[in-house]
Amino acid sequence: MSNIAVTGGDTLDGRTIIQGSKNLAIPCLAAMVLFDDMITLQNVPDISDVRGSLDILRLLGAEAVQSGNTITINPKSINSYTICDGCGGGRSSVLYCGPLLAKFGKCSCVSPGGCKIGKRPTDLHQMIFKAFGADSECQENENNSNLSYFAHEWKGCRIELPIRSVGATESAVLSAVLAEGTTEIYGYAREPEILHLCNFLNNAGADIEFKPECDKITINGVQKLNPCTYRLAADRIVAGTYMIYCCMCGGHIKLEEAPVCELESVIDILKRSGAVISAEDNSIEVFMNRHPVSVGVVETDYYPGFPTDLQSMLLALEAISEGDSIIVENIFESRFETAYLLNRMGAAIEIEGNTAYVKGVSGLTNCNLSVPDLRGGAAVLGAMLKGLGRAVLDSTEIIERGYEDITGDLKRLGFTGLEE
Ligand code: EPU
Repeated sequence: MSNIAVTGGDTLDGRTIIQGSKNLAIPCLAAMVLFDDMITLQNVPDISDVRGSLDILRLLGAEAVQSGNTITINPKSINSYTICDGCGGGRSSVLYCGPLLAKFGKCSCVSPGGCKIGKRPTDLHQMIFKAFGADSECQENENNSNLSYFAHEWKGCRIELPIRSVGATESAVLSAVLAEGTTEIYGYAREPEILHLCNFLNNAGADIEFKPECDKITINGVQKLNPCTYRLAADRIVAGTYMIYCCMCGGHIKLEEAPVCELESVIDILKRSGAVISAEDNSIEVFMNRHPVSVGVVETDYYPGFPTDLQSMLLALEAISEGDSIIVENIFESRFETAYLLNRMGAAIEIEGNTAYVKGVSGLTNCNLSVPDLRGGAAVLGAMLKGLGRAVLDSTEIIERGYEDITGDLKRLGFTGLEE
C-alpha cells in the first residue's frame, strides 16, 4: 500500500504537461484485438489501469511492449478468448468481448472491476453483443459476473442506447468495425474519447461516420484494419483536476498540451469561483489570487456538461469556498464517499440522495485518511493541499490507476509539502 504525507498551505506556481487520456487508452487497447498486424500507440499514460489492459492483451496471447509512453502491440499471436478473474484492467475487460466475438466468434470475460461509484451493470454491453449475433444461449451466471458467448455470425445491426453510456457506445463501435454490413448506433455517448477512438479506427481503415443531427453513428464493416501509429489525446480529467487544485490553493499554473476545447464547461464553472482562466491552442493558465467563492448549483451531465469524473474535486473546492453550493450527481448513484472524508477534515457537506448540500467553511484541517476511489482520492489530496497541518493519505495506489505522476506534477506546479 502506498501513501503520501501532505503538509498543506502552499500556493501553486509552475507548469506541467498533461498526460495522455486514460479513458481513451482503455478502448484503444481493447481495439488491438481487431488488428492483424503490429500497432503503435503513443502518449499512452503509464498508469496501472493501462498496465491492467496490457495484462489482458498478454493473457489473450498478444505481444505487448511498453517503452515509456509508447506501446507496441502485436495481436497476431492471440490464441485465447478468456479474460479470467484477477487479471486487472479496471472497467476494461467487457470492452474485449465485442472485438473477440467479431474476430474469433467466442469470448469469456469476468465482470469488469473499476471504482465502486455505483452499480455499473453491463446490461447494455450484453444487449449489444446479442444484437450483433452472440449466441442467445450465452452463459451468463446468476450475478452476470461471467459473460461467455459464441457467435456463428457477426452482422451489423441497429442499436438504440437508452442511456448515453460511454462504455456501451465503445462496445458497439468496437463490435461494428469488422461486422458484416452496416451498423447504426443511436443515442451514442458524446464524450470526446468516443470521437478520438473512432478517429483512430478510421486512420486504420475503418468506415465510421458521425451524424450528430440524427443522433447516430454509422459504421460500415470492413474486412480488415491496417497497421498504424496513433498518438492519444490529452487527459481532460487530469487537466481539470489540476485546474481545481489551483482554484483551491491559489497561485498561477500553466498546463501544457491540455485539451482546451474539451474543458469548456469546466472552465465556465471554475471562473465562477473567482479564477481567471485563459486558454489558447493547447495550453491553459489558471490565476487565483483570492479565496474561492461558491459556484452555486452544478449538476454533472453527459458531455459537454460538467463531468462526473470532476465532481469529487468540485466538492472539495466548494467545501472551502465562501458561500453555499449544491452539487447534483446525475451519472453514478454512489459517488459521494468523498464528502464524508472531507467532513472529517472539517467540511460541512450534507448528502441527500444524489445531491450534496455544501456550506463553505473557511479552512480544513488535515487528518489521516484513505483514498476512497480514483477521483475521490484526487479530491481528498486536493483538500489536503489546502488543509492545515500534516497528515497521511494512504492507499494512494488507487490514484495511480489514473494519474501517471500526480506528486511529480504537483511539485512541478510548485507545491512543496509532499513526502512519498
Ligand atoms: N450503465 C448501465 N448499463 C450498462 C453500462 C452503463 O446502466 O451496460 C450506466 C452506468 O451504471 C452509469 C451510466 O450508465 O450510471 C453511465 O456509465 P458509462 O457506461 O457511461 O460509464 P463507463 O463507461 O463505465 C466511463 C469512464 C468513467 C466515467 C464514465 C462517465 C472509462 C474507463 N470510464 O465509464 O471514468 O465516469 O464513463 O463519463 O472510460 C474515471 O475515469 O474515474 C471513471 C470512472
